[in-house]
Amino acid sequence: MTRRILIFDTTLRDGEQSPGFSMNITEKITLARQLARLGVDIIEAGFPVASEGDFEAVGAIAREVKGPVIAGLARAVSADIDRCWDAVRHAARPRIHTFLATSDIHIAKKFNSTREEILRRAVEAVRHARGLTGDVEFSAEDAFRSDWDYLCRVVEAVIDAGATTVNIPDTVGYAIPSEFGELIRTIRERVPNIDRAVLAVHCHDDLGLGVANSLAAVQNGAGQVECTVNGIGERAGNASLEEIVMALKTRPALFGAVTGIHTEEITRTSRLLASITGIDVQPNKAIVGRNAFAHESGIHQDGVLKDARTYEIMTPESVGLAKAQLVLGKHSGRHAFAKRLEGLGYELSKDQIASAFARFKDLCDKKKEIFDEDLAALVEQEILAVVPEVWSLEYLATSSGTRSIPTATVVLRQGEETRQDSATGDGPVDAAYHAVDRITGVSGTLVSYQIRAVTSGKDALGEASIKVQFAGREYVARAASTDVVESSVRAYLSAINRMLAETARAAGHPPAGPPPAGF
Ligand code: KIV
Ligand code: ZN
Repeated sequence: MTRRILIFDTTLRDGEQSPGFSMNITEKITLARQLARLGVDIIEAGFPVASEGDFEAVGAIAREVKGPVIAGLARAVSADIDRCWDAVRHAARPRIHTFLATSDIHIAKKFNSTREEILRRAVEAVRHARGLTGDVEFSAEDAFRSDWDYLCRVVEAVIDAGATTVNIPDTVGYAIPSEFGELIRTIRERVPNIDRAVLAVHCHDDLGLGVANSLAAVQNGAGQVECTVNGIGERAGNASLEEIVMALKTRPALFGAVTGIHTEEITRTSRLLASITGIDVQPNKAIVGRNAFAHESGIHQDGVLKDARTYEIMTPESVGLAKAQLVLGKHSGRHAFAKRLEGLGYELSKDQIASAFARFKDLCDKKKEIFDEDLAALVEQEILAVVPEVWSLEYLATSSGTRSIPTATVVLRQGEETRQDSATGDGPVDAAYHAVDRITGVSGTLVSYQIRAVTSGKDALGEASIKVQFAGREYVARAASTDVVESSVRAYLSAINRMLAETARAAGHPPAGPPPAGF
């Protein structure tokens, strides 16, 4: 019999809390909507007690994102659980996810407590949560390194207290697949009331075994797998959603299990996350890496041309990686443009379509052939351009060469006013950034800078992805243009606008005037 495995996505909680992956509220909602389109069963939207921002984001996702269960995380204390409930209760299907560590090392060193006391607190927390909602998950943090007899007692007790899902994390990524599978089998065999709850697993990737351990758990009866897009998360990350899902789909006879994931949405979800965070996956990453479906060697290429199944165990189309498609040209109208975006799965407001269409027309003047990837680059700038454009680019001219000093002239607009300045630098991008700094009065430190060609061809759009630090805070920004100096400057302005918007929001006024002192 084929079992349905629930996919619990924690990209917005376990993923987001790792360094470099933080997202603002609009980005979280955008990603949560895409996770719903992907078909995840549960979205863990955040840890509401952690900060006011987390609380607001979880509340907004609960209100706005339809389809999946919306979960929030809470430590096993009443105040955390109440705060979590205040955020998730707006969802059609809310879940409180409470956790407490059960390993001896955590009990002794973190809590200076005893097994009996921890068991009592776990039961009390679950009872409290069940008083608020019918959907309560309990996680025994560091379960794999816990004493298995004790762990079984905790699992039995929290199910009796009302937990509807019990999660067994390998919090520190210590297990190997045969052992982890054995733990899941042991719990299923020894806990008498186990059938009254969904048995979940949550594996970290410290030894690179998060996915393998999750799959071993499925083979031994786990009914829910917790994972993240692109495998992001604490330290080496969490088990990667796309790898687990495609393993189950590619080997149905072996697992006898299916998920509700619309696998054709995988690539788009992975890229959206990379766009938002400015962190790409490595080229050889399974399923979503740039090379995951590329065949380089002659022998492989020959085999694939004869029959793709010689070297492909799944089709690129099955993960939403369509062959580069020529889509629209300079004679295409706004209606055809909007229809194509709809076909690609983007939901844009009228204003966003108008602005993306104007950029599309500009692009048609510079580039002969427009592909789906070009549209995606344009549209993602629209979706993620959620801050007011305090500064926008009016004009850019650079000169550089092997024997000349790179120089840039930049004209920026701020409302009705334009301002111009010129500067020199190590190269045209550096020169243009100096000119922008002089005009805006803001100076950021460039932490990372990448350029990638959106499609193949000499006239491809070049997408600049940058991370800039202003006063100790990092801002991620991207922009695309056929001129890489222009995309670099637009990305830099976008980072400046983000910083100004955030500073203004913190001060409680709209971002209009020049930057505050100290930037
Ligand atoms: O890794 C872990 O144990 C966790 C729990 C809070 C589920 O993230
Ligand atoms: Zn975790």
